[in-house]
Amino acid sequence: MRLIRLIAGLLLLGLSAGCGNDNQGETDQDSPVAQGRKLFMANGCNVCHGPEGQGDGPVARSLNPKPRDFAELSAYKRGPGLEQLEETIEKGLTTGQGIMPAFPNIAPEDRHRVALFIQSLQSK
Ligand code: HEC
Repeated sequence: MRLIRLIAGLLLLGLSAGCGNDNQGETDQDSPVAQGRKLFMANGCNVCHGPEGQGDGPVARSLNPKPRDFAELSAYKRGPGLEQLEETIEKGLTTGQGIMPAFPNIAPEDRHRVALFIQSLQSK
């Protein structure tokens, strides 16, 4: 019960924060891409992928296959599209040796934000 109340409280908080933003106009900090970047860091993606997704995180060196530069559209195994990115985040990538972990614990709307952040790094 407590947990449910807490979640409801957080949702309300989120809603009221959302209303506040309407009045002030969206700042860069609140954009879905900026939120995606925060989630990318908070979930430790940067440890392997690097802060700008160039495949140069501190752990990348010891991985095989290594994470690739997100800017490189031809380097994606599952694909660079929004839905494909969301699926990779949810299920990981097990085509190779399964080193890209699955993140089923990240909520679907947050996976969407992270995917938007990754797309913002792709070369147009
Ligand atoms: C333990 C290191 C590690 C972490 C942490 C990690 N990744 Fe990866 N990721 C990899 C590796 C290695 C690959 C390449 C796997 C392959 O080629 O089979 C990869 C591949 C990817 C790809 C490319 C998929 C494709 O189509 O080729 C995406 C997108 C991705 N990761 C997103 C993320 C996101 C978002 C997070 C955080 C929620 C994350 N990764 C966390 C190691 C990691």
